[in-house]
Amino acid sequence: MAKILVTGGLGYIGSHTVVALQEAGFKVVIVDNLSNSSIKVLEGIVAITKQTPEFENFDLRDKQSTVAFLKKHNDISGVIHFAASKAVGESVENPLLYYENNINTLIYLLQELNRNGNTNFIFSSSCTVYGQADVMPITEAAPIKLAESPYGNTKQIGEAIIKDVCNANKNFNAIALRYFNPIGAHSSAKIGELPIGVPQNLIPYITQTGAGIREQLFVFGDNYPTTDGTCVRDYIHVVDIANAHVIALQRLLNKENQDNLEVYNLGTGIGSTVLEVIKSFEHVSNKKLNYKIVNRREGDVISAYANTKKANNTLGWKAKSSLDDAMLSAWKWQQTL
Ligand code: UD1
Repeated sequence: MAKILVTGGLGYIGSHTVVALQEAGFKVVIVDNLSNSSIKVLEGIVAITKQTPEFENFDLRDKQSTVAFLKKHNDISGVIHFAASKAVGESVENPLLYYENNINTLIYLLQELNRNGNTNFIFSSSCTVYGQADVMPITEAAPIKLAESPYGNTKQIGEAIIKDVCNANKNFNAIALRYFNPIGAHSSAKIGELPIGVPQNLIPYITQTGAGIREQLFVFGDNYPTTDGTCVRDYIHVVDIANAHVIALQRLLNKENQDNLEVYNLGTGIGSTVLEVIKSFEHVSNKKLNYKIVNRREGDVISAYANTKKANNTLGWKAKSSLDDAMLSAWKWQQTL
């Protein structure tokens, strides 16, 4: 049974991936500093899978701890690296935190993995690297645009660092997965998204408004050049994203990768407007949502949805859940909080 290190394994996408890995028969060791997660997530993972992953609580910015951890766990066959800060607005206010947290930890990990001869690495990237792409749907060949935020920049720099490492060490194998907009929760409603404070992202804001925690959702702009004037995104169920990580990892472990660095879009290929997302919520919850159109939010792109051909045909993965499925799971999860 191969042992996999999942950094940030108690976070939103990390926890769903730990479940998928354990269900696929992998042994998991999680490193998480609980900076944007909770130890309760571990209980949720155990309740779903009936297996307890190993867990170590330390900060990957602490190089000595990282080195000691990897020395102790010298039987790790692959690493899925989620641990990172991810709030766009916070990254603008505190860029150094983002560069330190997202870049230093990546460098320390890569240094040690290279030293130890551990060669299988999955990197958590984002469609944010494309900025406002010129052509929809977005293929992996679309140019990387100037980053809109320090957060986005850390994903671009992270990919560039991995590319250089893969060039220098042909035995090092990596896959960068560029997520579109992950939403939803595990069908058991035992794990899901846990935003701290006021949510910045659309779906938790909607479900909290539906639950009466927020009074009203603000829709950021209705004068974009889209079908109904609101922005278009590719919302993808987090369990589909989690499954893609297992498939990507198996590809590396089975040495099926064609290049020692591969990049895949993880999206559904379907673009939905903010108003369509609200309709989906109203449909699955049977509730009217209180919302108001306000000004555009700075830094929002008009439209971003994935061309999924490469992920479908080369990786052999396809998103299964619809927007309604994902929204229903998010709503069920919200009702447990
Ligand atoms: C953002 C980041 C992305 C990051 C993702 C997950 C940018 C450009 N992208 O995606 O890199 O990976 O978060 O953390 O910042 N909206 C409202 N009202 C709200 C919240 C959102 O109308 O209260 C709208 C937004 O204008 C947008 C859509 O909903 O059109 C989705 O927003 P959001 O969930 O924040 O995700 P992104 O901005 O697409």
